[in-house]
Amino acid sequence: MSKVVPVIAIDGPSGSGKGTIAHRVAASLGWHLLDSGALYRLLALAAGRHGIALDDAAELAELAARLDVRFDSDANGGDRVWLDGEPVSGELRTEEAGKGASTVAALQPVRDALLGLQRGFRKPPGLVADGRDMGTHVFPDAALKVFLTASAGERARRRHKQLNDKGIDVSLAALSRDIEDRDRRDSERSVAPLRPAEDARILDSSGKSIEAVLNTVLNWVKELQG
Ligand code: C5P
Repeated sequence: MSKVVPVIAIDGPSGSGKGTIAHRVAASLGWHLLDSGALYRLLALAAGRHGIALDDAAELAELAARLDVRFDSDANGGDRVWLDGEPVSGELRTEEAGKGASTVAALQPVRDALLGLQRGFRKPPGLVADGRDMGTHVFPDAALKVFLTASAGERARRRHKQLNDKGIDVSLAALSRDIEDRDRRDSERSVAPLRPAEDARILDSSGKSIEAVLNTVLNWVKELQG
């Protein structure tokens, strides 16, 4: 890898497992982690709190530019996210926040306003960045670009289990519909649509264990480190 701080970009649709894999890859390498989806979720949440409509691009971009966010971990190593000094991790993972995130994420001024914040996470020894456009727009020079995918049915089932484990009750049918809507919005939008970078390695995690997917990615990293 070159002397610039290396980035591993992990992009893919909702429920593809990229959050879990990005987390594990970062922990295994001792690198920083960027959960870019959390920034769009935080913005949607902050907009609700400030009474800003989710289609008001100018106000949202201004809010994005002064977003007061902090990421840390609790005593058990669980992720915590803070907005304006308040813990919001639980609220952030709801489907409502996901829907709001994908609405504000379709606005170019919002994406521009969040670009610097995202690039600021690139610090030595390296960054693992998880999102939809990490390899295509935010870190086009990433050393490794992975596009993680899985069948729509499997993604809905995984998301269902994830939410249930957190005590969030939602029907699988409703979740499947939400995921399909979100996929459509994310893939069909004109700005930074969800698609693999030309030099991305496509990894279909359907029917594969987390360990198997993790090993594949870590082997790719080893190849690069030569
Ligand atoms: O990954 P997560 O489900 O938290 O992302 C929430 C939403 O934020 C996505 O559906 C997508 O619309 C948007 N997003 C994005 N670009 C990213 C990360 C997330 O547009 N890099």
